[in-house]
Amino acid sequence: MTHDWIAILDFGSQYTQLIARRVREQHVYSEILKFNTTAAELKLRKPKGIILSGGPASVLQPGSPSCDKALFEMGIPVLGICYGMQLMGRDLGGQVRPGKAREYGSARIEIVEEDTLFKGLPDEIDVWMSHGDQVEVLPPGFIALAKTHTCPIAAMANTERRLFGLQFHPEVVHTPQGIDILRHFIMDTCGCSGDWQMSQFIAESVKSIREKVGANHVLCGLSGGVDSSVVAALLHRAIGKQLHCVFVDNGVLRYQEAEQVEETFGKHFGIDLHVARSADLFLGRLAGVTDPEKKRKIIGTTFIDVFSAEARKFGEVKFLAQGTLYPDVIESSSPIGGPSATIKSHHNVGGLPKDLQFALIEPLRELFKDEVRLLGRELGLPSHIVDRQPFPGPGLAVRILGEVTKERVALLQQADLRMQEEIRKIPNYRDIWQAFVVLLPVQTVGVMGDERTYENVVAVRAVQSLDGMTADWFRLPYDTLDCIARRIINEVRGVNRVVYDISSKPPSTIEWE
Ligand code: XMP
Repeated sequence: MTHDWIAILDFGSQYTQLIARRVREQHVYSEILKFNTTAAELKLRKPKGIILSGGPASVLQPGSPSCDKALFEMGIPVLGICYGMQLMGRDLGGQVRPGKAREYGSARIEIVEEDTLFKGLPDEIDVWMSHGDQVEVLPPGFIALAKTHTCPIAAMANTERRLFGLQFHPEVVHTPQGIDILRHFIMDTCGCSGDWQMSQFIAESVKSIREKVGANHVLCGLSGGVDSSVVAALLHRAIGKQLHCVFVDNGVLRYQEAEQVEETFGKHFGIDLHVARSADLFLGRLAGVTDPEKKRKIIGTTFIDVFSAEARKFGEVKFLAQGTLYPDVIESSSPIGGPSATIKSHHNVGGLPKDLQFALIEPLRELFKDEVRLLGRELGLPSHIVDRQPFPGPGLAVRILGEVTKERVALLQQADLRMQEEIRKIPNYRDIWQAFVVLLPVQTVGVMGDERTYENVVAVRAVQSLDGMTADWFRLPYDTLDCIARRIINEVRGVNRVVYDISSKPPSTIEWE
């Protein structure tokens, strides 16, 4: 690797990828490696610094993950975060104990020694804690940099050896000055130059995809959304005609979406695109089903059936490319160890039949949505694709509460189309993460002309978000809401009431199902 980079050793924290992202935000490349990566391996690849992530285990438990102690002797700066700090404390001769008053969530630390990490920060700052264990006795040569009333060593350093530990998480937004702390480590201590660009990510991905794929062929499920489009474009750049894309028309897409995908990828980009027209199959299997998780499962398995049938037509295809992003990875499971609570069953092709054993290629696995958009732009994808709002795998089926029928899909498509047209007119349209219409299984009384009506209610949902993991409802102008409601009620037959969803995530989710 020719440019500066930071190695992040992953001990299983759900924030590990966030650390990687924060480093990239400083225009420094970062890579997440297994916690047990050896000092010898790292020596060959010459990172400018090493970050040890947090993790759910306790360093006091026998068998908990630990790192190669030789890392601390390499002369490369090391920053231990949370579990990483405790590991450093334990392995370098200090003492760790379980916290008496377990400090979780927001805390305020007092900075007792500025050193490099806290340079220029106020005397007290808010931070985010998430671990019970603490370093109680400093390892020899270390000093305490910060404390709280229940945690006398909230940060520590051995400036001479350039080893640092933080009890809290600088990478999360709940530590507002965390980015300054990380920057001081990456730039001032490690001496990174901060000249890394997304174009280098492309060059590196293309190289590693080519190495991995060789002369084999790759299948890619293209949905027309940002993620799979970017994956397809990236793979097309890497392996050209060895890439084959399959688009499944599942009957729960947005208005004319299938046509647009064919136009853009088939005709414009010249990608080898195969369209499976399977609307009837999906809608047939969804008939009479109202439970959200059942709908998701049916769509997931039907997708796999259709996709498998298509895949078999290609003969020997060794690889399957997927647009898995970091938020998908953590919402579906935890990075190490047992699965975390499943909030919604995400769409994936982990359940492909045995005769279709693909090796996976997931080039976006470490990226967040806004980084994927940046990557897409860099790859030359048009704005109507890269700026497209996220769309769930199960499509309109999770926006039609109750039974999904052809008629209800058509109704929702028409309502959604009108909402999209109106919303694009507002000046801060790009600040909206997602805006969509939900068809409720509720009918209300209305009056049209002199006639009583008894028709459907739709809800409009618009949210602001950075990565889909948390979201706030979007303050749409009243006039826009007014136009949306009027147009939907006047132009879409079967709707006589429009409501606006003003809940945030958490505790709600973005989609209604
Ligand atoms: P929720 O509703 O969980 O959604 O707050 C978070 C983000 O994920 C999208 N979403 C999905 N995306 N497959 C996907 O590819 C799915 O099954 C799925 N479910 C929700 C949702 O639109 C939002 O952007």
